[in-house]
Amino acid sequence: MPRRKVTIVGAGQVGATAAYSLALREAADVVLVDVAEGIPQGKALDMMHARRVAGFDVRIVGTNSYEPCEGSDVVVITAGLPRKPGMTREDLLKVNGDIVRSVISEVSRVAPTAVVICVTNPLDVMTYLAWKASGMPRGRVFGMGGVLDSARFAHAIAEAASVPVADVDAMVIGAHGDTMVPLVRLATIGGRPLPDVLAAEQIEEVVRRTVNGGADVVALLKSGSAFFAPGASVAAMVEAVLSDARRVMPACAVLDGEYGLRGVSVGVPCVIGAGGVLEVQELDLTEDELAALRGSAAGVSQGIAALGLEE
Ligand code: APR
Repeated sequence: MPRRKVTIVGAGQVGATAAYSLALREAADVVLVDVAEGIPQGKALDMMHARRVAGFDVRIVGTNSYEPCEGSDVVVITAGLPRKPGMTREDLLKVNGDIVRSVISEVSRVAPTAVVICVTNPLDVMTYLAWKASGMPRGRVFGMGGVLDSARFAHAIAEAASVPVADVDAMVIGAHGDTMVPLVRLATIGGRPLPDVLAAEQIEEVVRRTVNGGADVVALLKSGSAFFAPGASVAAMVEAVLSDARRVMPACAVLDGEYGLRGVSVGVPCVIGAGGVLEVQELDLTEDELAALRGSAAGVSQGIAALGLEE
């Protein structure tokens, strides 16, 4: 069987970390594409040098053209400008929109059957743009945001409760941004509901750390934004597609009536397998949770409208 191929567009911090995470898992051969000359080639060569000692044997190629991406099973879009301190994800809307549009036109040419995973911020709007511009079925294009936000939620819970992170099950839905919705009521530690284990103030702090996780990293780094957790989250989603895992993961999906939402893409639990989003799962949310999700989606709709993409 020919080896699977994953293209990562944008060989910056997130793209390169995602490529390396995939290589360590031996999930696929990887093509790194970037407009910056030498960057994807240099990072790919560096990763290939690591093969013998890190213990993986896949091919990683760096390029400034899309020809080597031909026939990719999955394309991950991380191309764009990273968020700088004090800059909101929404500030990036216009500039990254143009980048994502240009990437999609190339991807549609060389890998028309690929599953596309969008990472570029503002993620939810970029996912909708990528889907619209591609003309692909809606399940084939989705965004990586919820897996990362849920990982940060699980980390904060594990630290607050002093438990292994593997004992935490917690999900964040909604947009990848300040309006995200950490589902406190449905989070569990070893099967026990979160509110039974942590005090109200602790839960408040856990939610704060989850929502501000990305900004906390940005503030510490001074330049650039998070990349280890985003890279690992991308790799987990790519692997779910390649292995047709049918795992339930929070993903930014283009909705068609689920949760009463249509013509917008936002984070919801999805069954991820070969072909992308196989199913959007509708959780039994409380009125408050549903209102928070819809409020979060309304912000995404504004971005979609700002780009002139509304239905
Ligand atoms: N095509 C290909 N690559 C591009 C293009 C383009 N049109 N425009 C920019 N790039 C590349 C840049 O050259 C750079 O190498 O995208 C890369 C982005 O890398 P970083 O600046 O390191 O940004 P990173 O931290 O990886 O974040 C990438 O993911 O999480 C989001 O907000 C983040 O939108 C940002 C994206």
